[in-house]
Amino acid sequence: MGKDVIVACDFASAEAVYNFLDKFTDKKPFVKIGMELFYAAGPEIVKQIKARGHKIFLDLKLHDIPNTVKKSMAVLSGLDVDITNLHAAGTTRMMQAALEGLTRPDGTRPLLIAVTQLTSTDQEIMEKDLLINEPIDKVVMHYAKNAKLAGLDGVVCSPLEAGKVHECCGQNFLTITPGVRFADGEIGDQKRVMTPAEAKKIGSDYIVVGRPITAAADPVAAYERCVKEFIG
Ligand code: C5P
Repeated sequence: MGKDVIVACDFASAEAVYNFLDKFTDKKPFVKIGMELFYAAGPEIVKQIKARGHKIFLDLKLHDIPNTVKKSMAVLSGLDVDITNLHAAGTTRMMQAALEGLTRPDGTRPLLIAVTQLTSTDQEIMEKDLLINEPIDKVVMHYAKNAKLAGLDGVVCSPLEAGKVHECCGQNFLTITPGVRFADGEIGDQKRVMTPAEAKKIGSDYIVVGRPITAAADPVAAYERCVKEFIG
């Protein structure tokens, strides 16, 4: 899979997501299904969107004991998604177990990506709540290296960290980056943002874009603009 724009379908119901996806008659975007939609609509929504011809990033961010994550990943593997994820904070052992669970008897599996530190966690919160006293970018790179060691395919990170992750873990280690905004668009609650063109320049492999597309007056035009800026 090459570089692509992944549309974050953060809708509260199956009906809302179908209304949105029905607008795309030409190219079928790569879709991210997160916890809100998955918990509301269940595994069936994944099967339905897949059947409509979309690639799927199932963003459920698993974090539990290795055995539980392994068994859960085996279930998710059956949904035939293209990418899924977990928290690197769950440890290298948990990530290795996840990979085992995700791998089908024929050796195929979805890509497995680790969340490093959420962008909602800053240095102060990390020190006070988690008692982690190292600089946050060092922690992010450490988690990325752990993910690579465990055999994972890449990490979710801020577009600002994508270049450094590639330096640390190699160009083939994937970076999936949210926090993308058009130069002339609303930033909303995202803090450290980049345009699709900047994300391309810094080497992001996939950008995850939600509201700049889902809340646009013309979502298809916004999606096409994003693809044009990011892929060319
Ligand atoms: O609407 P917006 O473009 O901000 O959506 C970004 C998507 O990426 C949301 O689904 C959000 O949950 C997700 N995300 C993020 N920051 C992270 C990890 C995931 O914004 N660090």
